[in-house]
Amino acid sequence: MGQPLAWGRRYLMVRPDHFRIDYVINPYMSTQDQPDPELALKQWDSLRQAIIDAGGEVEVLDQRADSPDMVYAMNLGLGTAQGRAMLSHMRFEPRRKESLTAAEWFTEHGFELGRTGGDGVGPHFESGDAFVFGDSLVVGYGPRTEADALKHLATDWNIRVRGLRIAHEGMYHLDLPFCPIDSTHALVYPAAFDAAGQAELFGIVPDPIVLTDEEAFAFSGNSLVVNQTVIMPACSPRLREVMTGLGLRVVVLDLSEFHKGGGSARCLTNPLDFDLAAAGVAGGEVVLPA
Ligand code: ARG
Repeated sequence: MGQPLAWGRRYLMVRPDHFRIDYVINPYMSTQDQPDPELALKQWDSLRQAIIDAGGEVEVLDQRADSPDMVYAMNLGLGTAQGRAMLSHMRFEPRRKESLTAAEWFTEHGFELGRTGGDGVGPHFESGDAFVFGDSLVVGYGPRTEADALKHLATDWNIRVRGLRIAHEGMYHLDLPFCPIDSTHALVYPAAFDAAGQAELFGIVPDPIVLTDEEAFAFSGNSLVVNQTVIMPACSPRLREVMTGLGLRVVVLDLSEFHKGGGSARCLTNPLDFDLAAAGVAGGEVVLPA
């Protein structure tokens, strides 16, 4: 029986005041299909309210006018209950200005800030690729985060990092095919990973809840758990049964406007309270599947 997650009660969100599709860096984006700003704000606000209703806390950061993807706050940096944060070093140049504002925010809020690189120098790291689960920080790499960033995280923070290679262009961040539900359960979409990554994934997750293609591409893996509530952009009847069976209350929200940029509930919310305690190991350690 899983225990509630030790994190996921405190979030950073960015209000979509300048959300547009100005460029294309993932298969969901098209400059021909722009979000409706009013509807986007309404949907974003329903997500913020759902987190608060579930007993979570939300901090709000203003969106930079020059950074249309900044609403996907999950990628601003990895914040921990230990008071350390690792800033993202975005793979694509149009997203790099977000880090200037994120760096200020983390520092002003008392986080000790680390970086894997900056301005294209040093390994890329996007925090949408990283979750604490079990005895390690699990990091997806390939499309966005680079393998060298995992070494950086392990040695900087003295933690165990387990890497999963992502091999699917539609699942470009770990937060699309992987969602921790409690200490033993996670939503997983194995087809997102290469063969070694799939084997490692099933080693990491004691009780995997395997998503169908349809569930994964409806962004069901991009959900979040706040206390005993799971907030999801889509939930099939089968998934609802599994979730309620685990004692969770299911809240389904329409986040259609954000799907146009390739992100959903998880991407819009950055957990600030990842607990690294269980991942601690002297000297750090990186486990990459063979
Ligand atoms: N358009 C954004 C990008 O491609 C979407 C980010 C989605 N965020 C996430 N955490 N998966 O970078």
